[in-house]
Amino acid sequence: MKKINIAIDGTSSTGKSTLAKQIANKLNYIYIDSGAMYRCVTLFAIQNNWLNGSHFDKESLIESLPDIHLKFALNKEKNDQTIFLNGIAVEDEIRSMEVSNAVSRVAAVPEIRRAMVRLQHEFGKDKGVVMDGRDIGTVVFPNAELKLFLTCSPEVRAQRRYEEMQQKGISASFEQVLSNIKSRDHLDSSRADSPLIKASDALEINTENRSVNELLDHVLKLIAKKS
Ligand code: CDP
Repeated sequence: MKKINIAIDGTSSTGKSTLAKQIANKLNYIYIDSGAMYRCVTLFAIQNNWLNGSHFDKESLIESLPDIHLKFALNKEKNDQTIFLNGIAVEDEIRSMEVSNAVSRVAAVPEIRRAMVRLQHEFGKDKGVVMDGRDIGTVVFPNAELKLFLTCSPEVRAQRRYEEMQQKGISASFEQVLSNIKSRDHLDSSRADSPLIKASDALEINTENRSVNELLDHVLKLIAKKS
């Protein structure tokens, strides 16, 4: 079967990464979590005290972009793929509420987006990549052979994310998670550069009443047709 690139976009916690990871496992594709890349840049800004409450030293962060090295690799301890920021596995740190509350501001900066998209192109150049995010079907891989746009209500998404965070031991209340999701939905959809919108040729799938396996089976059939 010919390898293709698969773009999965949608708001937070619509099931993008679960689906993308399963596709990658099943078909031996590379999974790229583009959101994790923006989260790492945000963590880097926080670590350098360039981002704190309303203070955001955008210029320093942009100047330091060449010092940010991102790599996806297997975390042997967790037997799961994780992102490495300058050689350090930061999977848990980037999922904190602090990072979640700041990431959409960082992701709205055009210079930062350009640097991330350059890397994402590099990851996808040999095909066989499944990438999830907000602008994958519109900006990163406008020629992706398969584009999906996942949707789901904010309440169900917040419940999913809340349970996921509980399992990982990341502290946050349901209300905080819901409010974060709503505010990121708004910022991500209304920003000037690469807003979250459905590509005209993307297939919209509501994940609310579909089981994970049902969704995977459906998507594997779509991939087979395109390969
Ligand atoms: O995990 P969740 O779906 O909540 O979000 P994520 O995929 O980790 O993305 C975190 C944030 O990064 C989003 O809310 C966007 O602000 C930004 N992002 C983006 O701008 N473009 C992408 N391709 C991926 C994420």
